[in-house]
Amino acid sequence: MTLFSLLIFLSFLVFSNAKTSTTLGVNYGQLGSNLPTPPKSIHLLKSLKSNFVKIYDANPQILKSLSGTKLQVSIMVPNEQILNISSSPAVSDQWVQTNILPYYPQTKIRYVLIGNEILSSSQDPKLWHNLVPAMYRIQKSLITHRLFHIKVSTPSAMDVLESSFPPSSGKFRSNISVSVVKPMLQFLNRTKSGFFLDVYPYFPWSMSPNDIRLDYALFQGGNFTYTDPISKLTYTNLLDQMLDSVIFGMRSLGFPDVKLTIAETGWPTAGDFDQIGANIYNAATYNRNLVRKLSAQPPLGTPARPGVKIPAIIFSLFNENQKPGPGTERNWGLFYPNGSEVYKIKFTGKVMKYHEKLPVPQNNEPYKGKVWCVVANGMEKNSSELKSALSYACGQGKGTCDAVQPGKACYKKGNFVLQANYAFSSYWAKFKSLGGSCYFNGLAVQTNVDPSFGSCKLPSVSL
Ligand SMILES: *[C@@H]1O[C@H](CO)[C@@H](O)[C@H](O)[C@H]1NC(C)=O
Ligand SMILES: *[C@@H]1O[C@H](CO)[C@@H](O)[C@H](O)[C@H]1NC(C)=O
Ligand SMILES: *[C@@H]1O[C@H](CO)[C@@H](O)[C@H](O)[C@H]1NC(C)=O
Ligand SMILES: *[C@@H]1O[C@H](CO)[C@@H](O)[C@H](O)[C@H]1NC(C)=O
Ligand SMILES: *[C@@H]1O[C@H](CO)[C@@H](O)[C@H](O)[C@H]1NC(C)=O
Ligand SMILES: *[C@@H]1O[C@H](CO)[C@@H](O)[C@H](O)[C@H]1NC(C)=O
Repeated sequence: MTLFSLLIFLSFLVFSNAKTSTTLGVNYGQLGSNLPTPPKSIHLLKSLKSNFVKIYDANPQILKSLSGTKLQVSIMVPNEQILNISSSPAVSDQWVQTNILPYYPQTKIRYVLIGNEILSSSQDPKLWHNLVPAMYRIQKSLITHRLFHIKVSTPSAMDVLESSFPPSSGKFRSNISVSVVKPMLQFLNRTKSGFFLDVYPYFPWSMSPNDIRLDYALFQGGNFTYTDPISKLTYTNLLDQMLDSVIFGMRSLGFPDVKLTIAETGWPTAGDFDQIGANIYNAATYNRNLVRKLSAQPPLGTPARPGVKIPAIIFSLFNENQKPGPGTERNWGLFYPNGSEVYKIKFTGKVMKYHEKLPVPQNNEPYKGKVWCVVANGMEKNSSELKSALSYACGQGKGTCDAVQPGKACYKKGNFVLQANYAFSSYWAKFKSLGGSCYFNGLAVQTNVDPSFGSCKLPSVSL
């Protein structure tokens, strides 16, 4: 081999190595009563060819199970501990000692994230000012323990911006911009860490399906593009638009080069009747196209940062039945809790062909019709929980449960499921407009199959 061909060969090795290094991971949330054990879950993670996993705590069992695997790991300081860590080096040192030292380096911990979406409007504003001090404390504790390869950051939701459209107008909320975000960007820039962003094109699309094209949100807009009138940058998909609005926000604070990591993204595979577009077809399309886009070589970047690699962590590994809120919240998983895949997906740089027939989407248009709220499948036997949900619903007044009193049409002695079906439907029909939901700690689901029986007619919600 001549020196010249050796050089070519070596540069080929370096280049092909770079090819495999796109970070594509999965968020492993644990808010489910029926999830597989950590070892089984990590086996599923590996089957995706994922190279990164993010967890929402520092669960010892999970960190132990990740030992010796190639998966890089992001762990999280729980929100409740930020205040104490921010005010005490001893507490910070102790946190690192307890949650990292026993597992590192056998478990490839790469990031410690401080809290989850602390800067959102819905969080306690008192914590905002403890966030960056806590980031500095943990960083210092890592150095103290000679953990030089672990970086510190924190995930932010899109609501850290007060303006995101057009992307060039991207601006952080004025009540955090100078006081919190600027010092945070300074920290991230100095430590060469990245800005972690939770970014879901699903949400703006589902809130304005008449203004935003679904195919544009799913990376299949064909020749459709949007040109930002100020920057003149041209967009082919909604995700790039959202990412660039944050990049413009960082630029306007004087930090144009802080790396961006997608800490969460994804698409729900199911939801309530009043939620549009949550289905397996759209979710598979979104996540498969996302993987294809982000693993392209050379990297595509975004219009504001062409050619720059963007690490991404998809939400989430499992459907999690204990997440409160609307139905979509419990249906972001790549796997069902029994370990079956919801749809096929592989995080390889290669262009994958999926020979899977996906179900035709039924809910890309708003649902029109009646909907009831009934006891969820499998919850019929939870009689003590049902009883307390029933008494909660009936305790809200407005005659919610009049029809299930003894002697009335919907009364069946000892049949709590029928009574609960009535009470849930009646409660939801009366209180939906006041913010009442059809959830009851996971005991209830929406249905469009009328559960009325005999002369007992159940109240419904009309969508
Ligand atoms: C924070 O510190 C206080 C005082 O030491 C302690 O009482 C409290 O339990 C700590 N909180 C957490 C979440 O660790
Ligand atoms: C911060 O600003 C947002 C909107 O810009 C607002 O909704 C929120 O209430 C503000 N929070 C505080 C604590 O000022
Ligand atoms: C960000 O970091 C780079 C590289 O270390 C440095 O050159 C630059 O001055 C920093 N930017 C700011 C605004 O501090
Ligand atoms: C997109 O534009 C190209 C070139 O103008 C054209 O050949 C192609 O048919 C267009 N595709 C669609 C889906 O409109
Ligand atoms: C796993 O659960 C899903 C959803 O409930 C179901 O469709 C599927 O058949 C189950 N798979 C197995 C192997 O039980
Ligand atoms: C239902 O009952 C099972 C078994 O008793 C329990 O594990 C589960 O947490 C209960 N679910 C709810 C939503 O209360």
